[in-house]
Amino acid sequence: MKNIPDHTPNIAQVQTQVLDAFSFRHACKVFDGERKIDDSVFDTILEAARLSPTSFGHEPYKILMIQNPKSRDLLRDFAWGANGATNGTAGQLGTASHFAVLLAHTGETMTAGSDYLQKFYRDVKQLPEDVIAFLNDAYGTFQSRDHGVSTAREITDWSGKQAYIVLANMMTAAALLGVDSCPIEGFEMDKTVAVLQEHFGVDPKFYKPAVMVAFGYRVDEPAFGKTRRDIEQIVEWV
Ligand SMILES: Cc1cc2nc3c(=O)[nH]c(=O)nc-3n(C[C@H](O)[C@H](O)[C@H](O)COP(=O)(O)O)c2cc1C
Repeated sequence: MKNIPDHTPNIAQVQTQVLDAFSFRHACKVFDGERKIDDSVFDTILEAARLSPTSFGHEPYKILMIQNPKSRDLLRDFAWGANGATNGTAGQLGTASHFAVLLAHTGETMTAGSDYLQKFYRDVKQLPEDVIAFLNDAYGTFQSRDHGVSTAREITDWSGKQAYIVLANMMTAAALLGVDSCPIEGFEMDKTVAVLQEHFGVDPKFYKPAVMVAFGYRVDEPAFGKTRRDIEQIVEWV
């Protein structure tokens, strides 16, 4: 028998913590602009991102933190889901303690056999050459046969899916730490790409914005309670 450490938590306590955190999390529209998240707390949220799983372990995302108010204002005109236009406030852009754009890798790096992936397998994954050859083959088959991920758009969308796992884990980690958040898809893609390129040096050849996310502390309780389908409508056991 292998000597595996006992990972069994106090189940009842963790159940309560998990469900409390998921109930606490809501799409926060306005944060307390005076309250900043401590560095150590935000570092934990970033570490939750970094430790997130990704398909093939390729980590096809980057997190761009936009903290300067003037920089955030560059997004204001076309980030309608974060500019407060719907509720007459400064929105998440104007009030969040931390504001991130999750960038998805494009086909330039995430096509099977790319130079980027060879270096990634060696430097990050520290894989031996025979395993790298195997992975090039397996990932190539995955792209061309299994999931039909071969056009530039399809590959970028696949990277975006991985970025959403990161998004979810960051928001859950935040909720466990008593930090509010809001995921943001409400932005015009073309204008966002242009601003990111012009002002933040994000080369669209390599990155496309997948989703944005704001963090901070709520200024008010949520205006509406949570509504969800019943569990029977969501899950089918066969
Ligand atoms: C991927 C994604 C994008 C979203 N985009 C926005 C957005 O741009 N602005 C916003 O205020 N809320 C946004 N939301 C929040 C959803 O409207 C919200 O999560 C949903 O209505 C459920 O409410 P709850 O999160 O408060 O439980 C987004 C949610 C997700 C998951």
